[in-house]
Amino acid sequence: MQEKIIILDFGSQTTQLIGRRIRELDTFCEILPYNKFPKDDPSVIGVILSGSPLSVYDKEAFRIDLNDIRGKYPILGICYGAQLISYSLGGRVEPAGSREYGRANLQYVDTANPLFKGFEPNSQIWMSHGDTITALPAGFRTIASTDSVKNAAFQAPDEPMWGVQFHPEVFHSLQGSLLLKNFVVDICGSRQDWSAAAFVETTVAELKAQIGQDQVILGLSGGVDSSVAAVLLNRAIGRQLTCIFVDHGMLRKNEFQNVMHDYECLGLNVVGVDASEKFFRDLQGVREPEAKRKIIGRDFIEVFDAEARKVTGARWLAQGTIYPDRIESLNITGKVIKSHHNVGGLPQQMNLKLCEPLKWLFKDEVRRVGRQLGMPEHLIGRHPFPGPGLGVRILSDITPEKVRILQEADDIFIQGLRDWGLYDQVWQAGVILLPVQSVGVMGDERTYEQAVVLRAVTSSDAMTADWAHLPYDFLAKMSNEIINKVKGVNRVAYDISSKPPATIEWE
Ligand code: XMP
Repeated sequence: MQEKIIILDFGSQTTQLIGRRIRELDTFCEILPYNKFPKDDPSVIGVILSGSPLSVYDKEAFRIDLNDIRGKYPILGICYGAQLISYSLGGRVEPAGSREYGRANLQYVDTANPLFKGFEPNSQIWMSHGDTITALPAGFRTIASTDSVKNAAFQAPDEPMWGVQFHPEVFHSLQGSLLLKNFVVDICGSRQDWSAAAFVETTVAELKAQIGQDQVILGLSGGVDSSVAAVLLNRAIGRQLTCIFVDHGMLRKNEFQNVMHDYECLGLNVVGVDASEKFFRDLQGVREPEAKRKIIGRDFIEVFDAEARKVTGARWLAQGTIYPDRIESLNITGKVIKSHHNVGGLPQQMNLKLCEPLKWLFKDEVRRVGRQLGMPEHLIGRHPFPGPGLGVRILSDITPEKVRILQEADDIFIQGLRDWGLYDQVWQAGVILLPVQSVGVMGDERTYEQAVVLRAVTSSDAMTADWAHLPYDFLAKMSNEIINKVKGVNRVAYDISSKPPATIEWE
């Protein structure tokens, strides 16, 4: 049985990070809405209560009955979680004089307490709260304090329940990972057996049992998530899996052939469909970004659907959905933040069941699993690429000629990043073709040609991004090569906008 830590989510921005830190301790964990604790699950070894934007004394505050977990598992409350424990058991929580945000140091820390084993004096932590615990419940003990926060950490008497006012999960809490290790490993007794190898072994067995003799269809995009999902399923059910890879004509230069070749080398049963003509026909003359996206999405579903119906007896649609796609903290208030299924309506339309073998993994774990499965590094380390492909990087209407120009420029840029050892330092990179012509001079000739923009960003999750500070020498080289080699381009610019307020793609 895969033992796990449960993180009850009260809506904090950093709940996902707690999960990530625990996975880094080779321990499986699940993030669940605060009111969805799985009672009677014997695989639970400990419970963490997350932070929250709310105040525990608000009328609409999220509350739980601590008796459901007290005495059954070790409990750690973080920020709001700590306040909730105090408040529920008779302590006092009040607005802090001023909001306490940022770095602080633990001036007092009880290193004899198992939660703080190995802590250094004055250890730096990160605070982010508007409320503070002004009085602990009877019998509770303060085990750490800062300058301004007396009850920065506490322990309940005679039971394994702790609270910390600061955020051990964030990078700026320098010994935060140690605190979580003390809790997860020493206190909860994690065996630390959550590894890529263990994941592959158990998931393959589960997929076999789940799918039996059924046929499964999976849409490949060339990206790392769908590719890893395919290889995992292939290991479990082999030829019962049919992968469909649609070429909408707006992939990178030679990408369709290269990716098909990779997939075949991996032993996948892949159907490649060249539907570019249909897409170009339907997109002809369409300029508006959302209209283009809608046509691409609709055509994709049509092509995929037609191909999938050829697979007789298909019962399942597999997808490379990963954990961050599914964690919707606001779910606890009933709101959906985003719908992530690229082939959304398909499962219902085709009467298929969904199979999402990576749904518990973070991106870096997907990569670890890919490596464990022996997939080549160039597939695993690939930059994200949008579903509509170069279609959202050609501003205005899309034509095969514009795609050709963009493919050439993009190929030079991406190859350049690889050659200069910069590819792995950026989250994602590409080129945008502007609907703008400008005057230039080449040889002794006047030119009146198109402008392209290079875009490269750093990010950890694509929710926010900064423009990559690429070396000037490299940008100069790229500009030169693109203008010299790509017929139709006489000007290159570099995008220095961050997200927000810009986005990564231009459309
Ligand atoms: P933005 O442009 O919103 O992009 O900052 C964030 C991330 O999402 C990718 N992206 C897409 N991926 N289908 C996809 O599968 C899409 O329609 C799509 N639009 C944007 C983008 O490349 C970046 O990684």
